[in-house]
Amino acid sequence: MIVFENVSKTFQANGKTVEAVKDVNLSLEEGKIHGIIGFSGAGKSTLVRCINLLERPTAGKVVLGDVEITALPEKELREERKKIGMIFQQFNLFASRTVFQNIAYPLKNSRMSKREIEDKVNYLLELVELKEKTNVYPSQLSGGQKQRVAIARALANDPKILLSDESTSALDPQTTKSILKLLKQLNDKLGITIVVITHEMQVVKEICENVVVMENGRVVEQGDVFHIFANPVERITRDFVDSTSNLSKIHELINEKAEMIQLKEGECILKFTYLERDASEALVSHISRSFDLNVNIIFGNIELIGDHPIGGLVSIVSGKESSITDAIDYLRGKNVGVEVILDARVSK
Ligand SMILES: Nc1ncnc2c1ncn2[C@@H]1O[C@H](COP(=O)(O)OP(=O)(O)OP(=O)(O)O)[C@@H](O)[C@H]1O
Ligand SMILES: [Mg+2]
Repeated sequence: MIVFENVSKTFQANGKTVEAVKDVNLSLEEGKIHGIIGFSGAGKSTLVRCINLLERPTAGKVVLGDVEITALPEKELREERKKIGMIFQQFNLFASRTVFQNIAYPLKNSRMSKREIEDKVNYLLELVELKEKTNVYPSQLSGGQKQRVAIARALANDPKILLSDESTSALDPQTTKSILKLLKQLNDKLGITIVVITHEMQVVKEICENVVVMENGRVVEQGDVFHIFANPVERITRDFVDSTSNLSKIHELINEKAEMIQLKEGECILKFTYLERDASEALVSHISRSFDLNVNIIFGNIELIGDHPIGGLVSIVSGKESSITDAIDYLRGKNVGVEVILDARVSK
């Protein structure tokens, strides 16, 4: 467990005081993948660097398991830090060392023999699927491969925690996916707690179980990822959630008076959103049959978070006005969100 108790961090720069992190109280459960999301300058890096004391909090405590890291003397802090690996956007590899030497670097003052170090590095290279690059230099690697080396190096001391500061931000979408998949595998296989800083909600959706939303140095919202996607409370969280789906596009189409959404009399546009974990039944065919409606899906966005479908559909619905009303009531009773976006129904 990583616990922040009233943690603040202020910087003095050019005679000004910057409050980068303000009175954060937070517990991150062991063995999970946690996402820290927020816009540039929100304080994400500063907060996460308070875990390994790359930044020392100006106030408050950081506790890792049963160790208050903020209270440790220098020598013990150095030992404790070995249990925390970190990877960065710019990879931070040693250009003049080979892949092997980069990964072996953190082991240089350990009591391991040359042979043991070799075995360890080879094991790590297998773990990150980079066996064939053992003796090349970083300049000969792609971005994704460099990040794999950095991950292997971060794991050399068998850390309990891996901190990732925008580790996929410099990578293309495909490579990003493969690195995220690797992090997930490491979490599954090694049980390592991972803290992922990102400004992309897609990254959170992809691998995190828990998410922390930061704004102006504060934690403004936090929780289980499915729950946050289903019920984002703060404005900033809603914007991040919306950024991962195309559902808000309907408002652009309306503004543009797009052809595809010109309604005939009796039709309306409904947006359905799944809000609960149990809303996976075949709702479209059900309301279509039971209420004798035509449901024409214009577009949709349904994804799995964990094993649970979440997302929504935008549809043009036509049928008897009272049947549409009954269908809406039925869906709401099933915890499906229904929003009437445009209405050309007429009372008979
Ligand atoms: N060493 C420093 N000296 C002075 N100010 C700093 C220092 N480090 C960070 N800050 C300031 O603290 C605030 C938070 O910075 P931080 O790097 O934690 O944000 P971030 O959320 O990681 O942003 P980004 O997404 O751009 O990486 C910013 O206003 C930043 O300018
Ligand atoms: Mg940062």
